[in-house]
Amino acid sequence: MKERDVIAVDGPGAAGKSVCAEVAKRLGYALLDSGAIYRTLTLLVLRSQIDPHDVESVARLIKCNLGCISFWNNQLIFSGQPVRDEIRTPQISALVHHIAKIPAVRKLVVPLQRSFGAEDRLDIIAEGRDIGSVIFPEARVKIFMTADPSIRALRRFDQYREKDPAYAGTLDQVRNELRARDMEDTTRPESPLIRLPEAVFIDSTFMTKQEVLDKMLQVCYMRVAV
Ligand code: C5P
Repeated sequence: MKERDVIAVDGPGAAGKSVCAEVAKRLGYALLDSGAIYRTLTLLVLRSQIDPHDVESVARLIKCNLGCISFWNNQLIFSGQPVRDEIRTPQISALVHHIAKIPAVRKLVVPLQRSFGAEDRLDIIAEGRDIGSVIFPEARVKIFMTADPSIRALRRFDQYREKDPAYAGTLDQVRNELRARDMEDTTRPESPLIRLPEAVFIDSTFMTKQEVLDKMLQVCYMRVAV
């Protein structure tokens, strides 16, 4: 039986990884957005009203509710509902790295990610922070994508304003949020974001979306040729 193909894309927030959705469409692969899982768990914590910094309570809550998270037709489902933009708010962005750094939480989320599309042996493109290093170290294609922090902040700021015209945050706030997340994601002891030596490096600072897409397809076609 043919091995399923896995493309792993890691990098910090607003680096341009959202292009993975289009790459997946073009290749006919399923897309695993692992950040969406951590964001959904953060939403669960916020709704529960427990203290998000109480590590033990958070881990217990997530363990008890992990069954509420599943995938259906490539779509992330939480409590029977498709997960959409409610996980992309500044409030969740500011908190998610605190939840994602808890080792007990990561331990629970690893099998969930590995199970994505496994039963149907789907070819997948998975994006996040530890995909190439921890979740799918066997991935045939690994990409590390980044961009200058000021450009990433500007992109995220524009996204917030586009989604919510009443958004009152400042560019400085967004820059600080991303900086705090970068720091936590790259320095945590449990599966930090690292640039693997075997990963293809893409710096999207001066690239348009189309250029990032072209570059990714080029890398994938080159390395995924069967
Ligand atoms: O990719 P996104 O920016 O939506 O991820 C939100 C957060 O989820 C990251 O800042 C990080 O703290 C966490 N995350 C992670 N490991 C992954 C994906 C996301 O720790 N594989």
